[in-house]
Amino acid sequence: MITYNEKLRVFKLDTKNSSYVIGVFEQNYLLNLYYGAKIPDANLWKNAMRIKSASFSPSNPHFPHENYSVDVLPMEYPCNGSGDFRISALAIKNSDGNTVTDIRYISHKIYKGKPSLAPLPYIYLNNYDEADTLEILTEDKVTGVKVTLFYTVFNEIDAITKSVNVKCGENAVDIERIFSSCIDFPAMDFDFITLYGRHAKERCREQRKLAHGIQGIASKRGVSGHSQNPFAALVRHDGTEEHGDAYGINLIYSGNFEISAECDYSGTTRLIAGINPTDFGWRLESGESFQSPEAVLVYTDKGIGEMSRIFHRLYTHNLIRGKYKYEKRPLLINSWEAAYFNFDTDKLVSFAKEAKSLGIDMLVMDDGWFGKRNDDTNSLGDWFVNEEKLKGGIGELVERVNSIGMKFGIWYEPEMISPDSELFRAHPDWLVHVPNREPSIARNQYVLDVSRADVRDNIFNQMYDVISKHNIEYVKWDFNRNISEAGSALLPKERSKEFFHRFILGTYDLMDRLTKAFPDILFENCSGGGGRFDAGMLCYSPQIWTSDNTDPIERLSIQFGTSMCYPASTMGAHVSACGRTGFGTRGNVALWGTFGYELDPTKLTEDEKIAVREQISEYHKYYDLIHYGGLYRLIDPYFDSFRCAWGFVSSDKSEALFTAVIMRRIESGLFILKLAGLDKDKFYKNESDGEIYSGALLMNSGVNLTNIIRNDGDSVKLHFTAV
Ligand code: DGJ
Repeated sequence: MITYNEKLRVFKLDTKNSSYVIGVFEQNYLLNLYYGAKIPDANLWKNAMRIKSASFSPSNPHFPHENYSVDVLPMEYPCNGSGDFRISALAIKNSDGNTVTDIRYISHKIYKGKPSLAPLPYIYLNNYDEADTLEILTEDKVTGVKVTLFYTVFNEIDAITKSVNVKCGENAVDIERIFSSCIDFPAMDFDFITLYGRHAKERCREQRKLAHGIQGIASKRGVSGHSQNPFAALVRHDGTEEHGDAYGINLIYSGNFEISAECDYSGTTRLIAGINPTDFGWRLESGESFQSPEAVLVYTDKGIGEMSRIFHRLYTHNLIRGKYKYEKRPLLINSWEAAYFNFDTDKLVSFAKEAKSLGIDMLVMDDGWFGKRNDDTNSLGDWFVNEEKLKGGIGELVERVNSIGMKFGIWYEPEMISPDSELFRAHPDWLVHVPNREPSIARNQYVLDVSRADVRDNIFNQMYDVISKHNIEYVKWDFNRNISEAGSALLPKERSKEFFHRFILGTYDLMDRLTKAFPDILFENCSGGGGRFDAGMLCYSPQIWTSDNTDPIERLSIQFGTSMCYPASTMGAHVSACGRTGFGTRGNVALWGTFGYELDPTKLTEDEKIAVREQISEYHKYYDLIHYGGLYRLIDPYFDSFRCAWGFVSSDKSEALFTAVIMRRIESGLFILKLAGLDKDKFYKNESDGEIYSGALLMNSGVNLTNIIRNDGDSVKLHFTAV
């Protein structure tokens, strides 16, 4: 619900359990008065007034009190160069050549529903009365630039989305910084949680105390990237999974981003999130406008676990789109780790036959089927079949796989081009490049300039040709390098800083066209494992390959980190031939995700085949619980290097599945696992031994696992049903 109190000049944005309050201050500055647990009233003016005590903070000469300064007030959307020396959310270079920017409140609109941000990906509503929207119109008087701040507030989910639109006045301007969200907290006793990583070790949790000055995370890679994810949380120092204030922020954006926190001398914290201003700029001619990506904010006073569950609910129902939002996804086996580039039709058909007998639904042919590709040195961009490898073409392969009763999926890397490809020889200027510099190469490939419509048309047509002619039911969309020497042959030099954002808009356009052309296909995003695992991509593919690291022990920290804001249904997770643990633990870890296989099924022993059949029946049994239940992280590998445990509880708390893993054996260690998320007043049957316990006992005393799992790599699942 959103209200405006005219007397107080205060906007109040309420979700079920949180309030966000904005005030219109003297001289029409917008102040960020409050964000936190729900409060009934709105008079927060006294708490927001901060008298300047820093050196030389400037004052607006028309303020009623000479000690007020925008340098210390909690600003709702702080601008560059007009008296607030902290990090700013907006900087616009005007026709005089300076970047002094100063926006003030003009008017507002409150309405039911939420506007579309297309062509950007965004959170959508299923019913228009699920949420309310506030649009605050502001203006920079000197330049005539109009800035609209958008806020959408969900009634049943404790989330708020924010974005910003800038419209040019009479004279052209250049946007130099535009952040999607800013919050000014009146405290700095927070830990900053972020997700760092690299290839094969993505999204590991990192937690640090905020300190005075600016700290933050960013990507300049052209994509969100392996190194940092566009997610951050602020939690109190003593916050836990189940207790304490937790503020989460996630960008629905797949390009260069920045999330920074600045703590000033007086102990306040400004948190901003949006497009990375480094190498960004956008020219607006008279009447043109620019829309920022969307930021999702979540607040709860029930700890980090509840923050994650709120993100998971929102993303499951209001971010993921299409047929596979709720429809059960096919269980697949992927050829990559089984064959790499070394396959032919007969080999793939032999995989399909064996997989079918095990209960798998779909065979996915990974990299290596096109051009003359037998390794990673060539053919990206030549999306026609390699007939030498696949005799009879894709048609014969798909028919043979389908006749076994298996579905068929295929791999693409649409935004890439190999120097050794027909596409490159025909269009050497189609790669991302800048004049007079030799482009760097990575994995033997360049990046295609998908900011260009002609390039996108070519790739779309090539893909359409193959996919429309065959019964293809799944596409893995890969992206195996980052962007350097960033530029487009078509962009005039005064617009060169627009390249990175235009590249992402081009990517979204291509994905939008393909997903609309093939609404029944399941798309899975991928980028050298999980190098583009972000909420923007989830608008086009309901699942993303989480990591090339399929070692179940390594996967634990990756999946724990990823789960900070992304639900289990989005995490591509496969059982592979990696022998670090037994088959059981590999399956138990992959169950916390989409579940599938990444191995040669013809090489499985009879015992392994029995284990696979058992895993597949469990996948079906627990599918709804894992995809739609609430996640409880019980023992996080960030805190414990020996053991790890998590669980899923159904929304009515009638069923739960918990999993515990011994990562490294502790000699004579007692292991009593306290469960979470159950109804303390309900009684539950432990399905493995038939014993009945109260939810209160299971959560407060726990389950003794000491003699159940002991050795490195052991794991156990505990399934409870309410009686
Ligand atoms: C990187 C992906 O993460 C892998 O799963 C596989 O598809 C390779 N690319 C193929 O080149």
